[in-house]
Amino acid sequence: MTPTAHWTPGTPEIRARWGLDPEVTFLNNGSFGATPTVVLDAVRQVQLEMEAEPVRFFARELPGRIAVARTAVAEFVGADPAGLAFVSNATTGVNAVLRSFPWKPGDALLLADQTYNAVKQTARWVAQRYGVELQFAKLPFPVNAPEDMIQPWLDAATPRTRLAVVDHISSPTAVILPVAEILGALRARGIPVLIDGAHAPGILPLDLRSLDADFYVGNLHKWVYAAKGAAILYVREEWRAHIQPPNLSHGYEQGLWAEFDWIGTMDPSAWLTAPVALDFYRSLPGVAASNHALVQRGREQIAEALGTPLPHPDDARLYGPMAATTWPTPFSGDFRQVQELNRRLYDDHRIEVPFSTYDHRIWLRISAQAFNHPDDYTRLAEVLRSGWR
Ligand SMILES: Cc1ncc(COP(=O)(O)O)c(C=O)c1O
Repeated sequence: MTPTAHWTPGTPEIRARWGLDPEVTFLNNGSFGATPTVVLDAVRQVQLEMEAEPVRFFARELPGRIAVARTAVAEFVGADPAGLAFVSNATTGVNAVLRSFPWKPGDALLLADQTYNAVKQTARWVAQRYGVELQFAKLPFPVNAPEDMIQPWLDAATPRTRLAVVDHISSPTAVILPVAEILGALRARGIPVLIDGAHAPGILPLDLRSLDADFYVGNLHKWVYAAKGAAILYVREEWRAHIQPPNLSHGYEQGLWAEFDWIGTMDPSAWLTAPVALDFYRSLPGVAASNHALVQRGREQIAEALGTPLPHPDDARLYGPMAATTWPTPFSGDFRQVQELNRRLYDDHRIEVPFSTYDHRIWLRISAQAFNHPDDYTRLAEVLRSGWR
């Protein structure tokens, strides 16, 4: 795909690259991403090849084809391919690390109170199974500066902390954490770090070599336009023999690639078409900055319509193409409250935008993707200004 030198978000030409429902104002790229048609066509092509001769495809061609795709992705995230494995999603990558980490009873696992719920649940399983204590860093939100999110990790850690899971971009608040600084501070205390970068690829320029985390997990289907089922797990060399995928297969004890590339028969088309998604990403130069600019303006309109304060300054170190805005009514503690808001906004106005909860508050988390137009946020703001609650 040749780069579109000058492109404008949300124009009919750009929007036509996705098969999105024209009736819906789609402000939630963050939850699952949205895959462009050209990538889905490539997926279908791989599936046709797979079914033309399944044995040739799986038994003879697949390892080489995964290696080609992995090399392209490794280059994109600045990683040594030897430490990089495809997984189906961030959840699987986190499960691989947390469930195969060499825990001993009495160890502690450090998370944050903003940690994504599925990750917290996996941590709970680890705690129950291995007698591991869970520790939680209390992250400030509203927040003024990235530096304010470093010390809480050190305050929560103890000499028993054996591993920390640090979000690169937090799910409920959409805030970007200063992971290099947190990693450095925890490493100085001898604590290995798994960075949960579920949202980061495509939003933040990644150079996993220089970041040098012990483990890094990232989705390609959220912000890099890959098909659902494309994600990465990076494992630092010293850990490679210790980390296995949640389901073991023929490759057990034969190295990271052998273990992760074959986890039983499954459709690998999302992995194999990741290079097509990367091409699409590169065909929209400046898309991360453009998405940020949409959200920058959008969050101001929404805060103004709701009459609520913005939870952080307009600092590009703190947020990318997603932003949390403050909802006027407090969180009751019953998640059905936000599910109901979400459902009604969709039913009444066909606006798809998630409500999250954190620290007894409700946050409306807007996203921007290339298919969004500034009018999408104006529309939401108008609905909110009209008193819709
Ligand atoms: C911080 C974080 N971690 C993990 C996940 C899980 O991603 P997936 O559903 O692709 O496994 C998400 C999903 O939004 C997330 O925001």
